[in-house]
Amino acid sequence: MIIQPVSCLRGELTLPGDKSISHRYAILGAMANGTTRISQFSQSEDCQSTLRCLKKLGLGIRQSKNEVEIQSAGWKRFQKPRELLDAGNSGTTVRLLSALLSASPFASTIQGDDSLNRRPMERIIRPLTQMGARIEAVQDEYPPLRITGSQLRGIHYRLPMASAQVKSCVLLAGLMAQGETTVVEDVPSRDHTERALPFFDVVLTEAEQQLKVKGPVSLKAVQMEIPGDFSAAVFFIVAALLVPDAEIYLRRVGVNPSRTGLLTLLEDSGARVERTNPREFNAEPVCDLKICFSHELLRRFPAEISGKWLPNMIDEIPALAVLATRLERGLRVRGGEELRKKESDRIKSVVVNLRNLGVQVEEYPDGFFVPPNQQIQGGRVQTFGDHRIAMAFAVAGLIATQPVELDHPSCVSVSFPEFFERLQSLS
Ligand code: S3P
Repeated sequence: MIIQPVSCLRGELTLPGDKSISHRYAILGAMANGTTRISQFSQSEDCQSTLRCLKKLGLGIRQSKNEVEIQSAGWKRFQKPRELLDAGNSGTTVRLLSALLSASPFASTIQGDDSLNRRPMERIIRPLTQMGARIEAVQDEYPPLRITGSQLRGIHYRLPMASAQVKSCVLLAGLMAQGETTVVEDVPSRDHTERALPFFDVVLTEAEQQLKVKGPVSLKAVQMEIPGDFSAAVFFIVAALLVPDAEIYLRRVGVNPSRTGLLTLLEDSGARVERTNPREFNAEPVCDLKICFSHELLRRFPAEISGKWLPNMIDEIPALAVLATRLERGLRVRGGEELRKKESDRIKSVVVNLRNLGVQVEEYPDGFFVPPNQQIQGGRVQTFGDHRIAMAFAVAGLIATQPVELDHPSCVSVSFPEFFERLQSLS
């Protein structure tokens, strides 16, 4: 795939359904009694992995275009899968489904592709084991995970890192456990699970960074609609902010504040972004966005991002690294050790590729520093099979001096199969 520099970006897009939310509604629908209908479900490979695993647990799943229908007799009726559960590239699938498997009365094995089989699972093995699950990792803490389900009991658990996957895993397990489960979250992470639970008839109480559920509970099947994925929108937002003659419209974008840290920072720094038509889908805030080239932003954007800002924009760092090349004060990202544990080591992937495109950058164990006012040259990008690296560096190609070539562009289908068509339609 070769991306050519452009001088203009114009047009209008509707984003695919949010990937994080799609996983959650599918899993909650599978746990509920009856037929759950979900519209604007993500067509990403990751969410298809979740649906495939749920089918293997005996659930009736029908899909047509962006609509998904899940028929279930409730979480007590999951069936022992006849084969391995394959989570593909999806960390959310393995970490959330492990909760369901831990409470089901059979043994099963869940694994992923080469990248997922190198991602840390101790973070879910520890709390689920405390709740009474038996989980064996074939090697160290990595998938495949062999899970023998049992009656779980509620726990009080303080999250050792900001992770919505771990938080959601413990809360889901708590719904099937005896007694109360409390999750303490010192640094807030995305809260889609918390917002969804009441729609499935689950009582969740929240006070002073503590989330509580009382199990076991029966969940009610419902009808849900999924907002557009902010983490997909961000590539177009950054592109429009940087291409000189740009004016684009993004429709139906999910703007849950626990996801939109980067948007807030951009707005506070003078980016020409307009939010219109605010509304809600199932307690998830949604709006339309108009984005135009923004010179002032380059002068005012903060020179350093770290600490509590990071979890709120963790998936947006590759796109932000591309924006950083143009900032008048450069950008230092610190406190991002978690970035090394994503679909690729995202600190390394960003640093290697900025250098491949002639940009100076310094690497830290927990982040990187991009010096101010740099011009992206052309060159070859190694995606490392990471969808967000491919999409971020496709945007780099739009503002480079020469074409940019991506080595494995099809990896975008992990979250956004139509990404290149949509990008082309604007340029
Ligand atoms: C996700 C949470 C984040 C994020 C990932 C999706 C989720 O991971 O990076 O892309 O759906 O809960 P962590 O929970 O590891 O921070």
